[in-house]
Amino acid sequence: MKKTVLSLALVSALAFGDTNTTHDLNVTQMGNEAIQKMMQTLKDAVMGAMKEGGAKKTAEVCSNSATDIEKSVNDSFPNITVKRATLKPRNPDNQATPDEAKVIETYATTNSKELTTIKMGENHYKVYQPIYMMKMCLTCHGEDGVRDKQADTIIQAKYTNDQSNGYKEGDFRGVFVADINLSK
Ligand code: HEC
Repeated sequence: MKKTVLSLALVSALAFGDTNTTHDLNVTQMGNEAIQKMMQTLKDAVMGAMKEGGAKKTAEVCSNSATDIEKSVNDSFPNITVKRATLKPRNPDNQATPDEAKVIETYATTNSKELTTIKMGENHYKVYQPIYMMKMCLTCHGEDGVRDKQADTIIQAKYTNDQSNGYKEGDFRGVFVADINLSK
């Protein structure tokens, strides 16, 4: 009897050791799902505004509602916060922290499209997805002469230290970061 209890304990210890790796995989999956939801919601808002009122309307939506949209998506996940981070922000709130900057610098040299999962501590992870520029992004982040003039006027009036212009299609721009805290 005693022996059974002991071997049961051993089995569950082994199983627990095993779940640790599965755990990391699940974390990546959790982060990915939250990032996909954030991306889709932002994309729907941008596409909807473009259809409704062109670049000018979209610039207004991005300038006025991006933070609220992010918040509403984040409120739907109990222990995940998704944000965007870059070394050259338009919105200073999106400036990468030093640990995020390291991952961003790696993407900038490798141009990888893969997710990166970093364990920050017990039950705390950050999952990263790189962001690359598509053609439609250049309306508001492209080089001088490429950006939409009306959109530019609205954006420049609001963001006085904008570092997010001058991009070409395919350029690495920054990351989505899912900050996952499992002890919450
Ligand atoms: C109509 C204008 C417009 C378009 C089109 C646009 N953006 Fe932006 N973008 C903005 C504005 C305004 C902000 C700052 C507000 C915010 O989102 O925090 C911003 C912020 C960002 C940020 C957050 C980092 C920062 O610099 O503050 C990222 C990343 C970004 N844009 C990527 C993209 C990508 C990728 C595309 C194309 C898929 C795109 N944008 C299309 C206007 C635009």
